[in-house]
Amino acid sequence: MRLDHATWREVEAYLEKSNGIIIPTGSTEQHGPMGLIGTDALCAEKIAWEAGKELNVYVAPTLSYTPAPFNMSFPGTISISEELFESLLNEVVCSLKKHGFKKFYFINGHGANLKSLKNLTNQFSNITIRVKSWWDYEKVDHLRHARFGEWEGMHATPSEISITQANNRTITCDEALSPPKKLNQKYIQDHSGDKHGPPEQHRKNFPDGRVGSHSVLATPKIGEQLIKIAVAGLVSDYLTIF
Ligand code: NI
Repeated sequence: MRLDHATWREVEAYLEKSNGIIIPTGSTEQHGPMGLIGTDALCAEKIAWEAGKELNVYVAPTLSYTPAPFNMSFPGTISISEELFESLLNEVVCSLKKHGFKKFYFINGHGANLKSLKNLTNQFSNITIRVKSWWDYEKVDHLRHARFGEWEGMHATPSEISITQANNRTITCDEALSPPKKLNQKYIQDHSGDKHGPPEQHRKNFPDGRVGSHSVLATPKIGEQLIKIAVAGLVSDYLTIF
């Protein structure tokens, strides 16, 4: 159930029997030569919309403008500061809270959002905030590693691209056929949470935008499976927490 497709009368009636809401968070940034700029947002909102339908819970409009400074050397990326993103999260929650929402489930699709989302959970005491990235659900994490192994990598991952292929658009691209540079463990540890350093250096390190991810392994069929088990993961987690 999409909040942006509801009337205020419907929301008022909903709040008489329920006070939960799901909020997708993504990004607007390059995702390699065959990944869509909106990948993180498109993945999170698809999973949110499907889970919202099953749970009869409203899904707020996706937060797609988020911090992605490291990708600013790639055209199409839009990045806002962490400060602005934290204020945005805070004011979105405050608005919804004022109307009576008390249970906030953030379904995230972009690693660099996690720090701000975590900070948000410390700003409120009388509401419940849950934060999960869609790849956190056990079965999703298992499938993506079983299917792609270390070629899942860190950015423009075959799993996120599979989801957008199932749900949005498939791009065939010769440039993506050869594997990307393999990441070593040290790079992964030092750059966890999507901390990839200055944009010029980042583009120099990863000229086509893939960060250790062999995007071309993506298929719409795996995308469908990933959506299905991520939705099941969200539904079950929501019901356990709330
Ligand atoms: Ni992504």
